[in-house]
Order: sequence, then C-alpha cells, then structure tokens
Amino acid sequence: MSLKKEIGRRRTFAIISHPDAGKTTLTEKLLLYGGAIQIAGAVKSNKIKKTATSDWMEIERQRGISVATSVMGFEYNDLMINILDTPGHQDFAEDTFRTLTAVDSVIVVIDVAKGVEPQTEKLVKVCRMRKTPIIVFINKLDRPGKDAFDLLDEIEKKLELKVTPLSWPINMGQYFKGVYNIFERSLYLFEPNKQRVEEGVAFSDLANPELKQYIGNDAETLREELHLAQGVYPDFRVEQYLSGEICPVFFGSALNNFGVKELLDCFIQIAPTPIGRETEERHIDPQEEPLSGFVFKIHANMDPNHRDRIAFMRVVSGRFERNKPYHHVRLNRKLKFSNPTAFMAQKKSIVDEAFPGDIVGLYDAGNFKIGDTMTEGEILHFKGIPSFSPEQFRYVENADPLKSKQLAKGLEQLTDEGVAQLFTGRATGRKIVGTVGALQFEVIQYRLLHEYGASCRYEPITLYKTAWITSDNKAMLDDFKLRKASYLAYDKEKRDVFLADSPYALQTAQEKYPDIRFHFTSEF
Ligand code: G4P
Repeated sequence: MSLKKEIGRRRTFAIISHPDAGKTTLTEKLLLYGGAIQIAGAVKSNKIKKTATSDWMEIERQRGISVATSVMGFEYNDLMINILDTPGHQDFAEDTFRTLTAVDSVIVVIDVAKGVEPQTEKLVKVCRMRKTPIIVFINKLDRPGKDAFDLLDEIEKKLELKVTPLSWPINMGQYFKGVYNIFERSLYLFEPNKQRVEEGVAFSDLANPELKQYIGNDAETLREELHLAQGVYPDFRVEQYLSGEICPVFFGSALNNFGVKELLDCFIQIAPTPIGRETEERHIDPQEEPLSGFVFKIHANMDPNHRDRIAFMRVVSGRFERNKPYHHVRLNRKLKFSNPTAFMAQKKSIVDEAFPGDIVGLYDAGNFKIGDTMTEGEILHFKGIPSFSPEQFRYVENADPLKSKQLAKGLEQLTDEGVAQLFTGRATGRKIVGTVGALQFEVIQYRLLHEYGASCRYEPITLYKTAWITSDNKAMLDDFKLRKASYLAYDKEKRDVFLADSPYALQTAQEKYPDIRFHFTSEF
C-alpha cells in the first residue's frame, strides 16, 4: 500500500478527562467495537489512585499496567486507530501534556453531573494552545445531572471552546430515553446495560407526530430544546472543527455502551488523518518519503533483570523500517532497531514497518531523552515538546556516599524520562528536583533505590516557581544575574533559571527588569 494510503487510514488521538469521568470505560467500549478486546472489563484502569501515595509496590504495579495501555491500536472499518492513553492522576499531568504532542485530535469526556472539572480545564488549555481538534463526550446520562444548555454554557465559559451539539439528550437519569442524533438525523433509544450495537431510527422530521410513540411526552420538550439549540449554536462545519475553532458535542453513557458507536462513527468521518509537525528548521509533511519522528515518552522496563527502557516514538513522516539504520540527531549517531514494537490493544508485537501517526516502542539502553528526533540524516528538531515550570521543589541529597555515581546517573536518566526536572543552584551547586506533583518525589526515591541502587533524601526549599530567563539587553541580564546570584540555577542544558521564592519576588523581578523575559515553559 502506498504511503499516502497508509496515512489516510490512520487516526491517532487521546481521550482526556478529569479522573472518574469515564475515560477508561469509554476506551474499553471503543476497543470492543474494534474487536481488539472481546469482553468488557479487559482494560485495566491506568489510574494511580490517590490512596496509593504510600504504597510503592502499588505505584510500580500500576506503572507496569500503564506501559501495556500506553497505546492501544485497533482496526475499525479498514482504518487503523491509535488511542494514546494519558494518566488520570494529576501528579502525572506533565506526562499527559507530552502525550498530547503525539496525537492529532482528542476526545474530552465530561461527567454530566460534575460538569467541567479542574484537570479537564488544564488539559484542554494545552489542546487549545496547539489548536488540536476536540470532540466532547458528555457521559453518564443514565444518572441525573446538569441541564444540557447549562452544561454547554459551562464548557464554553470554563474551557473557552465554541461548541455545537451533534446529539441531544432526551431526559436523563432514570428517565433517560436516549438521544437525537443531529449529525445523522436519527433517534437512538436507550436500554440500560445493552452490550450490542444499537441501531438508530431515521427521523429527519421531528414534527412528525410518530415521535411520541418512541419517547412519549418527552417529544415536545425535545422539539423545543432542539429548536432553541439550533438558534443558539452554529451549524457544524468540519473545517472549523479541524482548525480547532469549534467542538462537536455528543451525549451518552459509556458504561451502558450508549452513544459510543455514534461517537466512533462520527469520529472516523471527521477526525484528522496524521498531520505534519513543525521543526525548528522547517515544516514536515507526513507524506515526505524520508522517515522522521520524535520521542514523547520514555518508560523504564519494570523487570529489574532488564535495565532497558522503551522510548515511544511518534512517526511524523515516511516509512519506519525494522533493522534500518536511522540518524539520532542529538547524539549524531546511527541507530537501528531489531525489535521495534507496535501496540495493538494490550498486546505488544514486533513490527516490520510503521507509518505516520503510528507509535513505535524502541528498546533503549539510555540513548533517548524526551524530545529526541530520529531522521534519515537530516538535522531536525521538533517543536512543541516543552517542559513546564514545575510546581513543587525539593533539594535532593545523597544519602549513601559510596553511591554518588549511581545517584547522579539515576537522576540524569529519570529526568531524561521526564519524571521530573533537575536544576543545579549556581551559587551552591546543590541539586534541586522540581515536579508537578508530590507523588513524583516518592516515585524518584523508590526508583533510584530499586533501579540504580542509590539512596537520596530530600530537604525542603522555599520556592514558588522557576522561570527560564533570556534577554537581548545583556547589561540588564548581567546586572540581574549579579544581584540575584543566590536565586539562580541552571537546567540540564545549562540554561539560566531564576528561582522565585514567592509570587512577590517574581513580580518585583519582572517589574524591575522589564527587558528580561521570564519563561514558564522550556520552549521559547
Ligand atoms: P476514568 O478512567 O475517567 O477515571 O473513569 P472510569 O472509566 O474508571 O469510570 C469511573 C467510574 O464511573 C467507574 O465506576 C465507572 O464504572 C463509572 N462510569 C463510567 N461511565 C459511566 C456511565 O455512563 N454511567 C454510570 N452510571 N457510570 C459510569 P467505579 O465504581 O468507580 O469503578 P468500577 O468499580 O465500576 O470500575
């Protein structure tokens, strides 16, 4: 099959939500449609439960599961669909941000009763910045929840998205009758716990009195609400969805397998095929023959006898082939892979080739960092895989003087994996670990000990935020560095970082030094 055809049959996306909205359940139902799994309950939740913070083995076990479920591929109607899983736990938000760089679209799941929750807001903000096409699935209609208009209003306000409903709920909770599918102009009737594929009843004229036979007294309400909705929301236009201007919304119940097939059928019609990516050098089109790809996730092998890791590479252009030497741009070295892995449902299998939109798992003994680029020789650096300014900080100290080398190596590699960020104080030389969540400190300590034989202890540091600093005004930058010497650090790439110990310190620095730019993501 030609490269163009292979690209045309791929859809790569992520499902994002606040924990408990139903991401795992929806993923599972999609896999059932794809025939990738046979029974419900087969997809293990990738949730790291809040209660697990003190249970190391539980974290490790769950991390193991998350490798298996990191990418789930399945075929549906001759298409190759790749779902990239994202950890629900907010302490792993940065992992999720990076995964979003590797997808072409997302489905956002919202709980009808809870509405827009904080984690959803954060993740959608990242999608908005990148203009990623978004479909919204409002879940759990079998339970009482918010009124559809109020909810759409909340989505528009809190998520700053323009929406257009493609289905409309008919009542909810114990009175839930189903949805009217605006996209297909058909009626889907709800029966709880139905695991078979539901068929819609074509119903293009809602004024038809027969509507009452299907949904009783809700018929009039449906007519009124749809009439109102048509006045309020714009017509769906696929170009506007693809450019990230408007989000189609579906209603359903993942647990009851209701509304999922319609979502999938609409998704495969409208969702983007693999799109190109920007590099510092130029735009890369997926149809270019030479291979290019970037690493967006690295996962340590759970088996202590095998120290290797899996680097997840998104293929951006060309055809990836097993055993063919590729150019590792940062190391300026050729590498070839004898057992690259593809992920079909929960199974890993060796692949001979992969195409744009695919994720390949590359076994790695320490050659890869997040953001690394592979090509056929061209020097390219993909953009858009930033690190974010961490939110929690601790000094990390060596607790076993005989193992300082192991500690240095462990910290280096774990931070390459993106578990945390590492800064070094300019004045003190002390190492500072920055993370987006408290759980990471525990994960690092545990993994240093179990994977590298190194012990560390943490000491508190009063730190509000770190900001990368740059300026065209050299005199001002030098003055700043001199005066703030004890608040300066450098990151792993030796770039200058300002350590602000309070919001006030950051604000006064920004006011006093107007020519200095303070960056809160590593890409500037
Ligand atoms: P997450 O991955 O987004 O965190 O959510 P997950 O799918 O695990 O769903 C969270 C809970 O919500 C689960 O219940 C799940 O069964 C339930 N759920 C998902 N979709 C629906 C729906 O359409 N209707 C209703 N009523 N419930 C739904 P749980 O009791 O927390 O877990 P479990 O023991 O059922 O796995």
